[in-house]
This record gives sequence, C-alpha cells and structure tokens, in this order.
Amino acid sequence: MSVRDRLAEISPIGRDNVRGGYSRHLLDPAEMVLRGWFESSAEALGLSVEVDGNGNLWAWWGESRRGAVATGSHLDSVPGGGALDGPLGVVSALEAVAILKAEGWRPTRPIAVCAFAEEEGSRFGMPCLGSRLMVGEITPEDTLARVDRDGVTLEEAWRQAGLEVSTIGPDPDRLAGIDMFLELHVEQGLDLENRGLPLAVGSAIMAHGRWRLSILGEGNHAGTTPMQGRRDPVVAVSSAALAVREIAMERPAARGTVGRISVTPNGTNVIASRVDAWLDIRAHSDSEVRAQLDATVALIQKRVAAEGCALQVHEESFSPLVLFDEPLTARIAGVLGGVPAIPTGAGHDAGVLSAYVPSAMIFVRNPTGISHAPEETAREEDCEAGAHGLADVLRDLAGG
Ligand code: GLV
Ligand code: MN
Ligand code: MN
Repeated sequence: MSVRDRLAEISPIGRDNVRGGYSRHLLDPAEMVLRGWFESSAEALGLSVEVDGNGNLWAWWGESRRGAVATGSHLDSVPGGGALDGPLGVVSALEAVAILKAEGWRPTRPIAVCAFAEEEGSRFGMPCLGSRLMVGEITPEDTLARVDRDGVTLEEAWRQAGLEVSTIGPDPDRLAGIDMFLELHVEQGLDLENRGLPLAVGSAIMAHGRWRLSILGEGNHAGTTPMQGRRDPVVAVSSAALAVREIAMERPAARGTVGRISVTPNGTNVIASRVDAWLDIRAHSDSEVRAQLDATVALIQKRVAAEGCALQVHEESFSPLVLFDEPLTARIAGVLGGVPAIPTGAGHDAGVLSAYVPSAMIFVRNPTGISHAPEETAREEDCEAGAHGLADVLRDLAGG
C-alpha cells in the first residue's frame, strides 16, 4: 500500500456535507468507523491492537510493553476540518511499519502506533483529552461530566461506545513503557512551501489557552423593544471579538481568535438573552498568553458593561509553551537528511507527552498553508516521503 491508498480508504468517512471537509468527533459514528479501520489496518500488519482506559488506540509491534518507540497522532477533526490534520500521522505510522515489515526488518524494542482520543477538543472542549488523561494532567472528575453540543455527557458517550468508564484516568504504567513519542503531522502554515522543502522537524509549540466567555443580557422582542436600553449580548460579543483582535495585534506574533459562538435562544426575531463565545489565545510564552488574556478580558469587560450585559470567564484549557527534546529532534533531523526545525502555533499530543517523555514531530509540507479547513492539503510525493522518512527514523530509534 501507500499513504495515498490508506488515505483513500478513510476519505469517505465523516465527510461534512454542510460545512465541507470532515467532521469526525470523539466516539461519533464517523470516528467509530475510523477506530474500526485503525484496528483492521493494524491487524493486517500483524500488530496487536488495544484500546487503553482513556479511549486511546494502540497497535503494538513486539511483545514487550517497555522501552517503546510510540508514533501516531489522532483521528478526530475540527468541525469542517481537513483530511490530514491527525489522520496523516496515523496513516504514515501504519505505512512506515508496512515499509519496515516489507524489508524484513525487525525492531529490537517495541514500536507502538497510536491514535489519541479527542485531540481537537471539538466534542467535549478539552484539546488532547486522551493524552492529558493518560499523563494525569486532567482527572476523571474534570472529564466525565463534560457535555457536547447536544447535552450528551462524556460519560454517556463513553458507555454508548461500549467503553469502560471506571478505567478513565492516569495511566502511569503505560506512560512508563514509552521511551519516546514521535508525531508526524501536516504542516499548518507555509514555512516549508516557502523554503521549497518537503519535510521538517518541530522545534516548539506556542503556549496557548482556551476560555469560554459567557455574556449575559436580557432576552426580549425584536419588534417591540426600543433600541435604547437594550441589553443585547450579540452586540456585546461583536465588540468583544474586535477587542480580541485589537489586543492581539498590539503584540508581536500573538494570536487571538473567537471561532465559536453560541447564541441563546438563537431566534431571528428575538433579542438574545445570552451568548457564549470561545476565546483562543496563543503566544510565545505562558506569561505572554496570561498577559494577553488579562488585557483582552479587561477590554471586553468594559465593552460588555457598556451594553448593559454581564461577563463570566471560564478557563477550559491551558497548554504551556513546548520546546521539543533537542537531542531527539536533532537525531531525527539528521536521519531525514538535515531538515530544518520549525516552530508551530498548533497544539498536538506530542506537546502534552513532551513533558513526560522525549517527544518530537515531523512536519509534511502543505502547499496551501491552510489547516482546520477543507483546503488543507499535501502533495502525494511529500506524504510518501514523510512515511519513508518516518520508517527511516523508526529503523534508527527502534533498531539500536
Ligand atoms: C489543535 O490543532 C489546535 O492547535 O487547536
Ligand atoms: Mn488540529
Ligand atoms: Mn492535529
């Protein structure tokens, strides 16, 4: 097979006919089909598959569960996302194993291909849910009562998928068995396209966080309520979104985004009573993210109050700055022929794992530079180069 063939196998799964692209969310019907695909693809390679207590998928080459080189990514997407963010890393890991097996090569330490649960946080709001649970950064108490957009709790979704709820939580034994983690990912920018190179390794991930802003106003009739004295949270959230941009643009390389808004009750002829808006902030250090948040919230607070509304701020997640393991990254860059190391503004399970085990990333060129949108893409030859490069890296890391 090839990366192209493997991507073709999953390309019909979870297409979003309304938004375009893919909507594959934790344990939804599409993601369940992908889980089945992962299992059968891995078993066809002779790997033994298991689902860990946190819904992460593992496919093992080798008997031992100690000293493993783990590689993979995630199968879920953002709403209306691209085909590659997540799946490319999983597909490439499977293909790399296939390449090595076809050569008759055998690892001297176990190789695990993995797919982490809910990396995007699109269903239950916590990015890197599966890896954070595994390392113990979040607890079952933080997790089970989370609700999706339809009011389904994670606990209910878990049970409906036939998963065991009592196993959710820190998994120190599994973590102790992993010596290094490697995530191949489509690049989410134009750096490689601009350099004319197919592959790079990751140097760093920007610090980032997500907050839910709830703006409380007064619901009323759109026709009978005078314009003066309204307490309209939709007007307030509009000025809040402008505030997010104003503050971010004052800060070099900072990012501030409101990408999701929920209006209650969401009727054309109704002045809303409440708006929830999700704020995503990224910067080059944890303290810069915090400072940007404080400045943003202070400005939003003023604007919301000027509209007669009240503001509540709830932190959903915080991900500190990640600097990937330098020796591992340099070794991988060398195996790949001296590729450059580039930073990214996007979050990854490799970022979570990097606080616990040496971790690294390989990026594959993306000619549009677009991600989290249907236009995300990569050239076929770059994807195949990525899988062959990953095979070379696994041969180096798991063969010595
Ligand atoms: C995940 O891809 C993120 O960066 O939000
Ligand atoms: Mn993503
Ligand atoms: Mn991803």
